[in-house]
Amino acid sequence: MSARVEDLLARMTLEEKAGQLVQVANPDPELDAPALAAGAFGSAIVASGEHAGNVRDAGTQAAHVDALQRAATSGRLGIPLLVARDVIHGHRTVFPVPLGQAASFDADLVRAAARVAAREASADGIRWTFAPMLDVARDPRWGRVAEGYGESAWLTAHLGAAAVQGFQGDDLADAESLAACAKHYVGYGLATGGRDYAEVDVGPRTLHHVHVRPFREAVAAGVATVMSAFHTLDGVPMTAHTGLLRTHLRGGSGGGLGFDGVVVSDWDAVGELLLHGVAGDLPDAACLALTAGVDVDMVTAAYRHLPDLVRAGRLDAALLDDAARRVLLLKERLGLFDRPFTGAGRAASVHLAPTHRELARTAAQQACVLLRDDGPLLPLREPGRVLLTGPFATARAELFGTWTLDGRGEDAVSVADAARERWGDAVTVDDGRWPELALQAARAADVVVACVGEHPMRSGEANSVTTLDLPAGQVELLEALARVSRRLVVVAVTGRPLAMDRLASLGDALVLVLHPGVEGGHGIVDVLAGDAPASGRLPMSLPWSVGHVPVFHDHRPTGRPLDPEGDVGRYRDHADGPAFPFGFGLGHSPVTYGPVRLSAPTLAPGETVTVTARVGNAGKHPVLETAQLYVRARPALRPQDPVSRPVAELVGVRRVALAPGEAQDVALELDAGLLATRDACGAPVPATGPFLVTVAPHAGAATGTTPPTGARLDVVTGPTTEGQP
Ligand code: GLC
Repeated sequence: MSARVEDLLARMTLEEKAGQLVQVANPDPELDAPALAAGAFGSAIVASGEHAGNVRDAGTQAAHVDALQRAATSGRLGIPLLVARDVIHGHRTVFPVPLGQAASFDADLVRAAARVAAREASADGIRWTFAPMLDVARDPRWGRVAEGYGESAWLTAHLGAAAVQGFQGDDLADAESLAACAKHYVGYGLATGGRDYAEVDVGPRTLHHVHVRPFREAVAAGVATVMSAFHTLDGVPMTAHTGLLRTHLRGGSGGGLGFDGVVVSDWDAVGELLLHGVAGDLPDAACLALTAGVDVDMVTAAYRHLPDLVRAGRLDAALLDDAARRVLLLKERLGLFDRPFTGAGRAASVHLAPTHRELARTAAQQACVLLRDDGPLLPLREPGRVLLTGPFATARAELFGTWTLDGRGEDAVSVADAARERWGDAVTVDDGRWPELALQAARAADVVVACVGEHPMRSGEANSVTTLDLPAGQVELLEALARVSRRLVVVAVTGRPLAMDRLASLGDALVLVLHPGVEGGHGIVDVLAGDAPASGRLPMSLPWSVGHVPVFHDHRPTGRPLDPEGDVGRYRDHADGPAFPFGFGLGHSPVTYGPVRLSAPTLAPGETVTVTARVGNAGKHPVLETAQLYVRARPALRPQDPVSRPVAELVGVRRVALAPGEAQDVALELDAGLLATRDACGAPVPATGPFLVTVAPHAGAATGTTPPTGARLDVVTGPTTEGQP
């Protein structure tokens, strides 16, 4: 409870309370000065429009925001404005797209990158970001897979919580902190057909165990806001979904998340309730959304009808008070009442600071996943004559990926820049415009590095695709280069998993790079040259073809599980399974994994067991290995909840740097809570029975062998004997 906020509420009119729930786009300090002073809107989004993720705008600066604040605080109540922006993966220092950051499997990296983004964006007056996106996604046709952390609920929760901590810091009142926003609640990644905005239908157990889980972790990490999603879930638009918003998200019992922060709608989603066919007009839409638990209406202005709806008795005034209270409390937590102004001094010193670039370079290195390296060809220490070709050889802004609103192409390091720095005059650059010239140059080179891939406009919001192949013409170029090159390295830069049918065996080495950001050229060349380990791991399975989608590691066994060594398949016309499994990625040296050892054979609720495996570097180059902890429930009698469990679930990772020949015992902690599931209402169902626990380099190694490797762990319902005197 805040005395200041309660005092304000006691003095506010219905119009002023409703005003705090209205969010407008791009207000003007002069034209909108009267509205600001009257408190007609409580927050503003700086964005080019509804598809801001792929349409650049002029951005904003502290001076502009301060002018808005002067107008807002000049009103009779002096309530400051809260300014928001989609700071998704960086501000001026652009980091890899979130899917690329997920390839690091490194929460510390994600947290640090979010902190840099907060430091830079807050210097421009932004104090609320609409990130992290926590939509677990398994369908790469959906362009927004680029914005999330991939197919694993555990990894999405793990990295999402880290992003929240990075954006919000230890103190939301710190001038460098941003209010984070867990979005899009909930299940957006399941859009039918990968078609953005399409309906979602999912069983309640999967919804709670997989898709709600990252939001639960974000709430536990203290996320200040949550965004409701566009789509319908089982026919109900999420923006009007009282059961999942007000009841479950805010509920503190029976599996509820206990969230007490601000819920903001997605862009115009309140107005879109008319298009969903559940509201007749904006007043209806406002009634539905506020009742469901949406506090702030992003750009529809439907909430301007709230005072009349209260006066007409269609809405309880307490709903309006509660929502306004949450917005005012958020502003107070951000320190905006005491320090509404940013001042112009910080931006120049923090934007693109050397330490920010260094972190972006590390992140770019780890957005690179080495999929194949015949020979091995890499690392290219002294490669001789290098031909660099393809559209991404000289690309700059295109390295940023989607949802880059404030990055500038001129700040980016291209692959060509980095290659010349590293290999000097031995590098010839050809932008691939004339394939004949590229082929001629290829013949004269010792190594050809072909940098192909997706333009950022092909991923992100409203950018679904029906094919996962490289853009037209690129595979043909690669096939031609493969015929004339002595040695060919294919670098595929993308915002989503690509189909591997025609790509997997092309050339001598293949690196998948998830739009790597402002230091993308350095990151790619560092990995190619061996100046950084090849440490990226796949946050999403790579399919052979779009026909295989969705393909993901934590699928259920079915009643007729496929024998990976067998000669029966499900598809008459293609191999089953992923071309490259979740978690896969090569280093510059082979890595060995020893048998799993458990600190105890049984595990009871509230207990933790230590899982250890010896991991060794069997080559002559350093590696940065991501040991992955997978669990699988073996058959056990669970009459109360006979739920089939996935063949492998990631529940932990440990990154370990190993010098050539070095081996270490890698220990991971497994808490009993990680093995629980959720029932149809979202309440936790404690695990019981035997589990197979594996430490592996990727999901394929955790499931693909028969008999499966790993150690048996018996999860019991009462305290284990070890815990008793
Ligand atoms: C967009 C996106 C959402 C974003 C918002 C504001 O349509 O769905 O992720 O934060 O609108 O740009």
